[in-house]
Formats: sequence, structure tokens, C-alpha cells
Amino acid sequence: MSSSLLCRLDEFGTGTDTPSAQGFTLENGREIFLVRVADTVFGYENRCPHTGAPLDWVPDQFLDLDKVYIQCATHDARFRIKDGFCVSGPCSGQSLRRLVLEIHEDRIHLID
Ligand code: FES
Repeated sequence: MSSSLLCRLDEFGTGTDTPSAQGFTLENGREIFLVRVADTVFGYENRCPHTGAPLDWVPDQFLDLDKVYIQCATHDARFRIKDGFCVSGPCSGQSLRRLVLEIHEDRIHLID
């Protein structure tokens, strides 16, 4: 098991209940994104379960306008922030691949 530092908690998002999201490209080219809601951070592979395509057209735009769901910019599919479950769209009933994160001393690490 390995651990990679992604960023500091205070480097993205507002720390409020309004979700914010940010994408990352890892050294091996793997695309992921994080969604922060207050002090909770959720992480997912940036790959839609039905085509494998990335979800964002515009960098870091992973959320719908109301910031309630993660959204696929191409097909308007909606995924719950808390578990990546698709509630509408072509991959309804499937889920984004969730990442294991650890926050330690204000730093967000990806655990593989
Ligand atoms: S690529 Fe699957 S919903 Fe858009």
C-alpha cells in the first residue's frame, strides 16, 4: 500500500457546506478529482462508468450548477457526491470509482 500527497486541505474549496471540486493528474497520468464539503473530502477516478471518459469539459468543473451533484458535462448524468452513485443519465445505477483518502495534519493523501 502506498500513499501520495495530493494537496493541503486549505489549498482548495471554501471549507463551507457549499461543495467545491478540483481535478488532479497523477504522475502516472491517472486522472482523479476531489470534492470538498466543509472538512470532508471525497475522491473519485475521473472516468465515467459507462464510457471511461472524463467527466469535466472545463477543468475542475465537476459539479452541477446547484452544486448538489457531480455532473458529466457531456451527457448531463448526475452522481451523488457522498458515494459517486449515478442517479440519472446513461449510467444510472452505476457508480464512480471511489478513492481511499486520508487527511493527516491538513494534508490530503491518496492511499493505493
Ligand atoms: S460519459 Fe458517461 S454519463 Fe457522460
